[in-house]
Parts: sequence; C-alpha cells; structure tokens
Amino acid sequence: EKGGYEHFMLKEIHEQPRAIREATAARIQGGQVVLRDLNMTDQQIRDINKIFIVACGSSYHVGMVGKYNLERMLRRSVEVCLASEFRYSDPIVGKGDLVIVISQSGETLDTMAALREAKRRGAHILSIVNVVGSSIARESHTVLYTWAGPEIAVATTKAYSTQMAVLNLLGLYFSQVMGTLDHEVYSAMVRGIEKLPEQMERILEQAEHIHDIAKRCAGREDVFFIGRNLDYALSLEGSLKLKEISYIHSEAYASGELKHGTISLIEDGTLVIALGTYTPLFDKAMSNVVEVQARGAQVLALTTESHAGEMGKRVPMLMTIPDTEEMLLPQLGVVPLQLLSYYIALERGCDIDKPRNLAKSVTVE
Ligand code: M6R
Repeated sequence: EKGGYEHFMLKEIHEQPRAIREATAARIQGGQVVLRDLNMTDQQIRDINKIFIVACGSSYHVGMVGKYNLERMLRRSVEVCLASEFRYSDPIVGKGDLVIVISQSGETLDTMAALREAKRRGAHILSIVNVVGSSIARESHTVLYTWAGPEIAVATTKAYSTQMAVLNLLGLYFSQVMGTLDHEVYSAMVRGIEKLPEQMERILEQAEHIHDIAKRCAGREDVFFIGRNLDYALSLEGSLKLKEISYIHSEAYASGELKHGTISLIEDGTLVIALGTYTPLFDKAMSNVVEVQARGAQVLALTTESHAGEMGKRVPMLMTIPDTEEMLLPQLGVVPLQLLSYYIALERGCDIDKPRNLAKSVTVE
C-alpha cells in the first residue's frame, strides 16, 4: 500500500504533482479559474467585509502564505488566526465577513470550535478541506475540496500543497469578480499553476542530492530557518516539518527579526537554513546569509534556478527550485524542505509516519 516507498510520507511527497493536477486542472478552463463548487454570488463576493483565515499547524501555515497572496490579489487586509486562539478571543467577526477555514482532516477540534464561533456570529464560512464529508465540511456554508486523496503520514505534505493551490485559485477567482488584479498577472498565475506538476517532478528528481545534504545535517540539535515575506511563511512550515519528524529543535524567524534577539544564538557551526526564493527580496536574503556566516553559521540555502549562481558563490550547500510566478514560489519551495526533513529523520532512525506524541487528526483540546 506504500506503493514501493519506504514510508507513507515519502509516497505522499511524490504524489504531489498528481495531487496538484487533481486540485487545479478541472478548476481552470481556457485560462480562467472556474470554481463550480463555490456557491457564492458575485454580489456576495463583492460585498465581503473582512476576511479571516483560521486553522491549526500546517494548515495555519498555508493561511500565512494565503495572507500575503490574497492581500496582493485583492488589495484587502486578511487576518490569519490560530484556531485555538480565535475561539477564545471574543472575535470581532460577524455578518458580511468571510471566514476561510483550512483543515486536511476536517475534524480538528479547535478549528471546528472556531468555525462554530464565527458561524454563530453570522460570518460566511468557506472551508478548504481534504476529507470529503468530514465535520468541518458539513458545517460550512461553502466547501472547496483539495482532492489530494487520503493522507496517512502524520506529517502533512500533499494536503499542505493542495490547500495552498486551492487558496490561490480562490484568490484569483475573487480578484476577477472584484476587478483587483492586473490581467497580465492573472494570466501568468494561471499558466504558472498549470506548470506546477511538471516543475514539482523536476524537484523530486533532486531527491538524492537532498539526501546527501540531509546526511550532513542529521547530527544537529538546533536549526534556524530564516526568510522574508513568502519565504518567512514557508520557513514556518519547513521548521515544523523538521521538528515534527526528526525531533530536532528548530525555529523559524523572519530574517529582519534576527537583530532583535535571535542572532545571539548563532555561533560557530550553527545550522541556518536560509530561504531565498522570493525574488523581490533576494538581495536582502543574501545579506542575511552573509550576516549569519560572519557569526560562524553554516548555511544551507534554498533558492531559484536563476539565483543559484549568485547564492552558490557564498553557500556551498544549496537546494534549488525552478523559477515561477512570485506568488507560487512556496508551492515549489516546500517540496525540497519536505524531502530534507524526511531524509534527516530517516538518517536519525525516527518513526517517520507516526512521530511520538502526535496524532493525524487532533480531536481533543
Ligand atoms: O487536519 P488539519 O489540517 O486541521 O490539521 C491541522 C494540524 O494538526 C496539522 O497540520 C499538523 O500541524 C500536521 N501534523 C503538520 O504536519
């Protein structure tokens, strides 16, 4: 049932090109995003007041990426909330507001409680869910399924990717109705989404290279992920993936925050995983690399093919992704980070599919 793979996690990482195709192909027609399962009228969409994204864990990290992308596509502010905080925060949410709930299992207790709280206050609930017919799906006004197929490994991979894809499609669809996105950018995004499966295949071909890097990193006990903007959102997921399955202490920091405290932890040999995929801020990413190297950090960098030459001059340990639209970079960037965590955990002999103390679906508080 693992399809020849040693673990479900590895199988599910490799299923991502197909899963992304499933989640997106039928929702793109003739260069346009068509969401047949979106039961909202254009008027309802135009009348949306505030937008919230509510979720836990990796689904929350998708929400972080979603905040950057939806704000850019819609020029509206988007609030991302941890479900466990939202539910007890006496949230300022009500009629006319849209609450986007993200959950793979559709059964996460805190997410469900947050959904009910928002619904009780009159908000429209749109959920992005993988498990068909799950509780969250049933209690939502609108459901967009991710169609990733069953995810068995506790560490989410293909669900994360497809949630992000669906959120991007939703943003594009809303942008059309609201008239907020430049036509060129819209078309480039659609073409970019169509290319993702093939580009993900190319990343998966680097698995052996990433395994070699993992062998060099597996003995660490502390790791720092750094990045800015979409790379920051991605660093949160990279860091969670690593700690969840390899038990290495890992933290994600917005690079600009280093000087406000964290840099004191960087000493000779500290491993810093520097994310430098987000093209508009590549120069900033480079200067943060130089900055931590000056304090003795050993850097592993992730960047795009077009920046690999420049990054490679400073950093010998390098993982690359194909170039794509700015807003789609985390869709590709997450794949090498998943592989890295997987191979590090493999080298450490961890129980990859069932890490200690964790459950696939968190139905208790
Ligand atoms: O099923 P959900 O998406 O609601 O689950 C949320 C989190 O429990 C989940 O993403 C968790 O963080 C993953 N194990 C991370 O890999």
